[in-house]
Amino acid sequence: MERGRSKGPQHRTVTALADALALEEDAREQLVELARDGRLRDHWTRRAGLCELPRLVDDFTGRAAELAWVSELVYADSAPGAGVVGLITGSGGMGKTTLAIRVAHVLRPNFPGGVFFLDLYGMSSNPATAADALRLVLRALGVADEQIPPDVAERASVYRSLLRDRRALVVLDNAGSEEQVRPLLPGEGASQVLITARRLLAGLEGVRRLGLEPLSLPEAMQLLTGILGQRAATDEESALNQLAGLCEGMPLALRIIGNRLVSRPGWQAAKLAARLVDEEHRLDQFRAGDLKIATAFWMSYDQLADAARRVFRRLAVVPGRDYDAALAAVVGEVPVEVAWDALDELVDLGLLLDGDAGRYRFHDLVRLFARTRLVEEESPAEREALAARVAAWRAADGHDDSVVARTGL
Ligand SMILES: Nc1ncnc2c1ncn2[C@@H]1O[C@H](COP(=O)(O)OP(=O)(O)O)[C@@H](O)[C@H]1O
Ligand SMILES: [Mg+2]
Repeated sequence: MERGRSKGPQHRTVTALADALALEEDAREQLVELARDGRLRDHWTRRAGLCELPRLVDDFTGRAAELAWVSELVYADSAPGAGVVGLITGSGGMGKTTLAIRVAHVLRPNFPGGVFFLDLYGMSSNPATAADALRLVLRALGVADEQIPPDVAERASVYRSLLRDRRALVVLDNAGSEEQVRPLLPGEGASQVLITARRLLAGLEGVRRLGLEPLSLPEAMQLLTGILGQRAATDEESALNQLAGLCEGMPLALRIIGNRLVSRPGWQAAKLAARLVDEEHRLDQFRAGDLKIATAFWMSYDQLADAARRVFRRLAVVPGRDYDAALAAVVGEVPVEVAWDALDELVDLGLLLDGDAGRYRFHDLVRLFARTRLVEEESPAEREALAARVAAWRAADGHDDSVVARTGL
């Protein structure tokens, strides 16, 4: 029922358990309360480490040549006076972040000075500024808040001096522009930086580049059958092959299609493949590269219950980078238990990522898809009311920003 991703029992797991145990109403409520308490305690007391490396996917597949490339990078002699910088580029959903996390885990022993991971949100409407990123990484490097200089150039200088004296790896995920990352590049010394970006960042000099390509068909099949686990045996191999082919080696599409099959045991791979072909014709508003992925999203969106769909598409207007069940309940106009179930289901389907402390977030392509659904499915008046609700919620929660300005809705 659960696949080891959420940090507490899912609400629907607990209610299913209560049903199975045929608990009386009182005992049932108690169980649900206890389970929720457990989750909340976990959410509120787990302080996320600064710049911690995210968890590794447990079914990492392929990418042997790319892993070798990064290993070589680590052992490469840097140009005199400069650390080594690697840049992984590729379209959204190609697996850049996953690869960077994987190599950082594998190479951790080579970096006794620490491994630091920063998401720069370069493709979002609200990218991290270099100054904010520097403050975060300086804190992770042990600098006290009051010792962090106000000025970007000074922060960068403290950062470079700290990196010079140790051997650390800094992963800068989702870089949006050259200006954003330049102050975060190391100076001389043995520390290294690995950047991922959708754009080529052609203006960065002295960087070693790796363009990430789609997975090969055998790798795609391996990933898909891995996600399907035992149920792969019940589908015809030719249908799985067709599905893998339709995803064109895009890991995100494979992940979402795989999760979709797992979550609906009644669906045959062949039937899903046929629908995928049909849906592609409908989704031509997406650019060619994103089409596979949009189609995969559609397949999952389509099967959601109304409340989960509503929560999903409406979360696209939330200006922050992540959100919790309480805010999901506000946007979806549902009780928080329902929001919780919806979020659990969305995570199961790969449409949302669950982060630390009970917070959830979109992959940026998924957010784009959710926004398209919102614009198509809800009237301007509904969207305005939604934006007002979110703004009111965030204002009450201590945020000060204009939803309308940031989301363009
Ligand atoms: N090599 C891989 N093995 C297994 N799953 C992968 C691999 N690469 C990517 N994925 C899956 O595809 C999804 C999208 O990958 P991600 O790294 O987020 O792409 P990008 O950063 O290029 O947008 C991830 O959530 C992960 O589940
Ligand atoms: Mg990424």
